Amino acid sequence: MHQTIHMSQKNILVIGAGGQIGTVLVEKLKDVYGASSVFATDLKENTEKGILGLDVMDRAGLEAFIEKNKITEIYHLAAILSARGEQNPKWAWDINMGGLFNVFESAVKFKVKKVFYPSTIAVFGQHIPLESTPNHVPLVPATVYGISKVAGELWAEYYFTKYGLDVRSVRYPGVIGYQSLAGGGTTDYAVDIFHAEAKNEVFNCFLSEHTKLPMIYMDDCINATIDIMRAPKEAIKIRTSYNLAGMSFSPVEIATEIQKRNPNFKIEYNPDFRQAIAASWPASIDDSEAKKDWGWQPKYNLSALVEVMMTEVRKKYSSLKDSL
Ligand code: SER
Repeated sequence: MHQTIHMSQKNILVIGAGGQIGTVLVEKLKDVYGASSVFATDLKENTEKGILGLDVMDRAGLEAFIEKNKITEIYHLAAILSARGEQNPKWAWDINMGGLFNVFESAVKFKVKKVFYPSTIAVFGQHIPLESTPNHVPLVPATVYGISKVAGELWAEYYFTKYGLDVRSVRYPGVIGYQSLAGGGTTDYAVDIFHAEAKNEVFNCFLSEHTKLPMIYMDDCINATIDIMRAPKEAIKIRTSYNLAGMSFSPVEIATEIQKRNPNFKIEYNPDFRQAIAASWPASIDDSEAKKDWGWQPKYNLSALVEVMMTEVRKKYSSLKDSL
């Protein structure tokens, strides 16, 4: 059961609504605030999914949209992720930073009340403890995606301090959900593995078997996003970005958990360039600041994640078969 909350009229703009997280976040925002309050946009219009076409790189178009729809909150999810960014670093930088400046500048101009800007575990790199990585450590990332997110975190704090723009941010771990596919990331294997299982395929993993990374189930990721945006302004003490953890596991650990439910499931390991990216990231995250400041609490561990993912992803393929 969902409760629609009636407060002062919110007009929420989601940029990147067709992506892995956007797809799920838009539905949740509609549940919480009412469908008419949510404007789902992406580079490509998709009328079936109710997504309007809006290019975050088009500053004039973005400003016109914000003004026309009296936008009060923005969730800026559009970005080029770690693996895809390495294929074309300058292009990834231009999109990640250009999009962010357009959002921040137009938000200040049109007095948008709050902006959500996701950061990532990709901000971490050398010179840090890789287990229980604290919030405040040197940020020396190895990818252009990570560099752009470190810069973005610093600009978020700058816009807050200098212009009073209420930007809020969390560092997402690898996000795993059944509603959408991941794309262009180093943690994508942990989504793809369930699709291979459901199709009875041997899973070809692009990371090596013991590469442990921080991950989070989609529900927890969405709840964190909604919760940090609803927290009282004074509760948000960190204006760069909050560490966020759900669980941590390696490919062999998730495969073993799947095999408990499907003993026929097989995985093989063929690490590629993404292995070096993963090796530069923490194995686990200390998210005590988020817990302390705005009450963050994840609900899903590895076993609960595997249970729900196997059930839901299998359903997708069986309903596909039924409709043939
Ligand atoms: N999931 C992202 C990636 O792998 C990390 O933020 O790039």
